[in-house]
Amino acid sequence: MGSGDGMIIVGGSASSKLASRVAKLLGCPVVNSEVTRFPDGESYVRVNYNFKDEHAVVVQSTCYPQNDNYIELFLLLDAVKDLGAKRATAVVPYFGYARQDKRFKPGEAISVRTMCKLIESAGADDVITIDIHEDETMANFAIPAYNLTAMSLIGRYVARLDLRDPVVLGGDQGALTRAKRAAAEFMADYDYLHKTRQTSTKVTMRPKRLDVSGRDVVIVDDIISTGGTVIEAIKVLKKQGARAIYVACTHPVLVGNSLQKIIAAGARKVMATDTIEHKISVISVAPVIAESIH
Ligand code: R5P
Repeated sequence: MGSGDGMIIVGGSASSKLASRVAKLLGCPVVNSEVTRFPDGESYVRVNYNFKDEHAVVVQSTCYPQNDNYIELFLLLDAVKDLGAKRATAVVPYFGYARQDKRFKPGEAISVRTMCKLIESAGADDVITIDIHEDETMANFAIPAYNLTAMSLIGRYVARLDLRDPVVLGGDQGALTRAKRAAAEFMADYDYLHKTRQTSTKVTMRPKRLDVSGRDVVIVDDIISTGGTVIEAIKVLKKQGARAIYVACTHPVLVGNSLQKIIAAGARKVMATDTIEHKISVISVAPVIAESIH
């Protein structure tokens, strides 16, 4: 198949559902890549589309298995250009390795910087991601690179939950902007959890400005991985008298049984977007991606 000059969405195996949602919103065709393995374990990627100068938009999250998903992304970007796309946009809804963005200890690889170089050299003409851990990471790209946010979508979803006197809380000071953005959608108060070191081993945590007693609290974060950050916050907020605690994040990395642990700690509901396909991915980021591409 081929559609002449226009846009074509190419879904990688980690993001095929999201790719279809983006294509539907943009009213353009979607082709899902065929991804299998050679007998020795190497990745095989095929894009069954007859490109005629289209703008190819490759949608592929680099969540677990991160290394395989990155290789697939590189192969897809290189293939679509080689097959005749005039332009390739890399949409990487979840950007793996983003948290290794510094040399925390001597000798460490700055992994995310390497991934940025590889995306660019694979053929991307521009890059879109969502709620990357640190916005500064985008400065690693020489091509146009955009970090979108899902926080307004999360806020709109939370607004429908019928919360009592809600407060939106960022897990730390860095998440205050995210909390503000989500809270703006339903005129809620917002704050962040402030950590104070009491002794060399004791850290206390409490909302910086607001009293949560008797109020419904929504904790927002970019990533929930082990759940450790959120579980600690839930414990503290319960002690401080929060009425019900909701948790929302952009990227449900949720390793092992972290979701069960968060529920067991007392979260009434845990919500996330579809940057990573998960059973709690109830909010689609397709509108922000489609709007940005449009
Ligand atoms: C930290 O700065 C991030 O925003 C997340 O709070 C953190 O990565 C979550 O990780 P975990 O779920 O393992 O505590």
